[in-house]
Amino acid sequence: MLKPDMKVRIGGLELRNPVMAASGTFGSGEEYKDITDLDRIGAIVTKSVTLKPREGNPPPRLVETPSGVLNAIGIQNDGIDAFIKDKLPFLGKIKAAVVVSIAGHSLEDYSTVASRLDREKKVDAIEVNISCPNVKGGMEFSRDPGLASGVTREVKRATRKPVIIKLSPNVGDIASIASAVEESGADAVSLVNTFAGMAVDIESCMPVLGNITGGLSGPAIRPIALRMVWETAKKVRIPVIGMGGIMGPEDALEFMIAGASAVQVGTANFVDPGIAVGIVDGIEKYMRRKKVKRIKEITGCLKI
Ligand SMILES: Cc1cc2nc3c(=O)[nH]c(=O)nc-3n(C[C@H](O)[C@H](O)[C@H](O)COP(=O)(O)O)c2cc1C
Repeated sequence: MLKPDMKVRIGGLELRNPVMAASGTFGSGEEYKDITDLDRIGAIVTKSVTLKPREGNPPPRLVETPSGVLNAIGIQNDGIDAFIKDKLPFLGKIKAAVVVSIAGHSLEDYSTVASRLDREKKVDAIEVNISCPNVKGGMEFSRDPGLASGVTREVKRATRKPVIIKLSPNVGDIASIASAVEESGADAVSLVNTFAGMAVDIESCMPVLGNITGGLSGPAIRPIALRMVWETAKKVRIPVIGMGGIMGPEDALEFMIAGASAVQVGTANFVDPGIAVGIVDGIEKYMRRKKVKRIKEITGCLKI
């Protein structure tokens, strides 16, 4: 069999394969340059960047849970100007597509950051994080279809790059939010961000996290994330990028069969920094075994 075709299209963006590194779990890519092959991943989504630098939340910011982690980093970053000056030059040197994740507190924040990135040739697409549970007000935009649409329209007005809206699982009907952002011009949706959670230290009777609550990720959330991706993919025509607890190629394939055009790998990068490349290889092996010529044939092939 010839080498399977693993290319996928996300709006106007073509990826060499459907495996992306998820925002906040892969730094700005450069941190991983000596421990994995950045030319073999479909795309890197960088840590969410805001207009102004942010210090993030007080420690502790990360706690292990059975089958996952709770984090409350709080979008610590140096701001868009420093990102463009210090981080983007390296990203221009790799073959993985560069998706820059942006976050903000107001429509103006989002559109200003998006318009700065619009001028940068090295940026292939923008992922709009409207779903961070660890920042005051960080989830407001993703909980209401009207507000989610508003951000989508502002960002689309500010840039010609493909726009991916990242959705929160902390809502009643995620597919209806996806539908609203599709109508407002989103080129794709990615889901899910983390699930709001908390942990308590029973000796001190205090919350474990400095922020009191955090966001749960890892294998614990996978079946719920998968169900949300399936529901969303049935409802929208734009590509759906699935994530939540993907630890290996089988997990990635589950998301694709349920309707995802591409997948993102988050918490698993902390266990094995080479996992994204391993997932690319594993999917290719599966395609050879099943005699699947094009990865597109896998997306949404769920038999019901
Ligand atoms: C430590 C940590 C930091 C994260 N930071 C961000 C972020 O800055 N922006 C964002 O959109 N998602 C962020 N996420 C969420 C992940 O991108 C992903 O949506 C989530 O963890 C679910 O995928 P996973 O179970 O594979 O980790 C973060 C996750 C973790 C664990």
